[in-house]
Amino acid sequence: MMVIKNIGELTGIVPEGVLRKEGAAMDELVSLKDAFLSIEGTRIKDFGPMADCPVPGEGEEILDAGGGTVMPSFCDSHTHICYAGTREQEFIDKINGLDYEQIAARGGGILNSADLLHDTPEEDLFAQTMSRVDEVVAKGTGAIEIKSGYGLTVEDELKMLRVIKRVKESTPATVKATFLGAHAVGRAYRGRQEAYVDLVCEEMIPAAVSEGLADFVDVFCDEGFFTVPQTDRILSAGESYGLAAKIHANELACSGGVQVAASHNALSVDHLERTTGKEIEALIGTRTMPTMLPGSSFFLGIPYGPAKAFIAAGLGLALASDYNPGSSPSGDMRFVMAMGCIKMHLTPAQAFNACTLNSAYAMGVSDSLGSITRGKKANLIVTTPLPSLAFIPYCHQTPFIREVILCGKTV
Ligand code: NIG
Ligand code: FE
Repeated sequence: MMVIKNIGELTGIVPEGVLRKEGAAMDELVSLKDAFLSIEGTRIKDFGPMADCPVPGEGEEILDAGGGTVMPSFCDSHTHICYAGTREQEFIDKINGLDYEQIAARGGGILNSADLLHDTPEEDLFAQTMSRVDEVVAKGTGAIEIKSGYGLTVEDELKMLRVIKRVKESTPATVKATFLGAHAVGRAYRGRQEAYVDLVCEEMIPAAVSEGLADFVDVFCDEGFFTVPQTDRILSAGESYGLAAKIHANELACSGGVQVAASHNALSVDHLERTTGKEIEALIGTRTMPTMLPGSSFFLGIPYGPAKAFIAAGLGLALASDYNPGSSPSGDMRFVMAMGCIKMHLTPAQAFNACTLNSAYAMGVSDSLGSITRGKKANLIVTTPLPSLAFIPYCHQTPFIREVILCGKTV
């Protein structure tokens, strides 16, 4: 057992069974001042006022939080951190005035990463991916979803998914794998998009599932990428193999992706930078978690998703990093939280819930992660003493992490 004592504020307490927060509840944040928290094995055992702190037995570990805050780790429900090399030239092209679609149309963008990945040995890809996972774990991420989608051939998609599986086995953070073969049309299929969709449905999905490599299926349903009917086919194929749907939609245009994903009972719909009331309507009453990715708005200079409108309509909201080499080369969830507040006008409590419980929900793990709840996995951040929770997104460059605890152990 480990006991964390002298917690200045224990925050993010959620009753058992609450798997997401929506509408007005997004602004609720339950905290306990002057608290303790105990951990048994990998799980949160108990917590309460310091006055009730158990006396640890022999050999039991005590961690003195020294008046710092203890909160659940961030959950990052949308990343592409399994990639090879980097794309600084496109960064410079962007500075010089090209936009994301122009770069992609020139054969850069995702296809550039696919070429790099093809030429990178699996071992090296694993090392590069692990170093990024270690980077974000040190920044407080305790659960991360990782997509394929820089393979775009059967072999290279499987190579990515095998690397993601190895990452799952190698990090104490929780990892979920998403098959995103429909991220772009592979080079060999240029001009034959329907044939590529056949390959995704008939070869890639069955192969990924037969090796047990994918938890979810995702499609880049947007202008210049995959159409609504193609997305429908791919999500149906995924479903028939037991993969829940996620989607990239409404980043570049009002693509219809939200509606098709909702019709497939998707776990999440992601991006949503260009969204109207129609998308909001399509999501009301569904199990689908709207997920916004302010890092890509920041990096690409495109609009931020209308987060407040979603919440005002009674919907939930998750935030994630989209960590990838083309549109968001950062996995810093604290910065994501800061952008949520500064650029999307979320309150610190809303941004906190969006980066913890709701993002855990968006990757299907909020029954065991994303809040301070007895029995949940002890994936926690112990902070330096903070004047208030708002300090985290407000002074977003000041170091605030004292300890990261994953599966009940300090990392
Ligand atoms: O989520 N939008 C599509 N895919 C990624 C970008 C991938 C890339 O450019 O490498 C995204 O923004
Ligand atoms: Fe993405």
